[in-house]
Amino acid sequence: GINSSKLLSTTGHVALDIGFVNTASCTSAITYIDGDAGVLRYRGYPIDQLAGRASFIEVSYLLIYGELPTAAQLADFDSRIRRHTLLHEDLKQFFKGFPRDAHPMPVLSSAVSALSTFYQDSLDPFDPEQVEISTLRLLAKLPTIAAYAYKKSVGQPFLYPDNSLGLVENFLRMTFGFPAEPYEVDPELAAALDMLLVLHADHEQNCSTSTVRLVGSSHANLFASVSAGINALFGPLHGGANQSVLEMLESIQREGGDIDRFVERVKKKEPGVKLMGFGHRVYKNYDPRAAIVKQTADRVLDKLGGNNELLDLARQLEEVALSDDYFVERKLYPNVDFYTGLIYRAMGFPTRMFTVLFALGRLPGWIAQWREMIADPATKIGRPRQVYTGKTERPYIDIADR
Ligand code: ACO
Repeated sequence: GINSSKLLSTTGHVALDIGFVNTASCTSAITYIDGDAGVLRYRGYPIDQLAGRASFIEVSYLLIYGELPTAAQLADFDSRIRRHTLLHEDLKQFFKGFPRDAHPMPVLSSAVSALSTFYQDSLDPFDPEQVEISTLRLLAKLPTIAAYAYKKSVGQPFLYPDNSLGLVENFLRMTFGFPAEPYEVDPELAAALDMLLVLHADHEQNCSTSTVRLVGSSHANLFASVSAGINALFGPLHGGANQSVLEMLESIQREGGDIDRFVERVKKKEPGVKLMGFGHRVYKNYDPRAAIVKQTADRVLDKLGGNNELLDLARQLEEVALSDDYFVERKLYPNVDFYTGLIYRAMGFPTRMFTVLFALGRLPGWIAQWREMIADPATKIGRPRQVYTGKTERPYIDIADR
């Protein structure tokens, strides 16, 4: 029993929409998606025009402030971010406390959560100056935190940021460089990573962004909200899919590369067997980000000497799936994560860092959405209703009588 009279609320009746398939939680002027047409725009600009032309910092500015920056605004934004790349020495100690084999995603969310303890002076969500400084601190420090999570996992010493470098170059140096050794950033590698971050920068009310908004709707500060978003992103149905795709491809390869057999297992819905990197709640057409990644995968893998065998396997898998009724009927297409892992692998990142790279990319979107929500006078605390399916009222029975 559902007691329908109990569903009445002060605002009318309660709609049950599991997974929010048809429910908008907010209005937003940041990102537009037309899932049937495969369209994605940030602040009105189509993703295929931004990718490869606008830098990640530029797109971050666009998402957060609403307009493309002028050259002077961009230079100013960039230099303000560069001033905040260092982590407090005490925060660095955190990384030592985690087990050596810790997954870098919970390390990332813990460190971001801890920023609330280091910057207690800048937590008021309604003070625009404090919001601004928290924004800069997060944008600047997340790459440092991500690089340290990596260094910790491979047992190598941390590098201080070098603020003569841009965000992506600095991140690559802190990740792959060694103290007191020169590190030449490969400009092609940096450009490819920059573009991948642009592709991930926002995606309206996805699971992690909705989490950021829900946490922030209680007036929790930006660091606390983003830390929650990172945890939401960790799941394999969301950002964790990029790691799962590569693990799936490797396991198909290990078992002899029989794609048809794997697809049959997916179609039979064997427990835990999905075609990872396929399907999307909103896109019922080719994910426009996946199309861009697919085009670049070839070029980047050739240049970086990546695993072309796995890329071939991915391509064949896509071909088989796209001509199979199961996938056609359900409108399942590759999503952004289907090809990214192959590129990250070619760049030298271990599989467990892939979702961290997604988090670096999604950060400006989380920040922009949180700021939009806080600034919107219509915002209320997020508090979904439920449809109660438990027992109706019954009397308590003394323990001796049960
Ligand atoms: N492989 C096999 N079958 C799938 C897949 C898949 N990847 N995705 C969906 N389906 C099937 C479902 O089993 C369901 O079949 P049914 O109608 O017979 O029950 C149908 O397609 C509809 O799928 P839902 O799960 O209802 O779709 P939903 O919108 O809830 O889920 C999701 C979307 C989570 C992305 C899903 O497609 C999925 O699990 N994909 C694999 C994980 C993945 O790649 N996630 C990344 C998403 S993009 C991102 O976060 C960047």
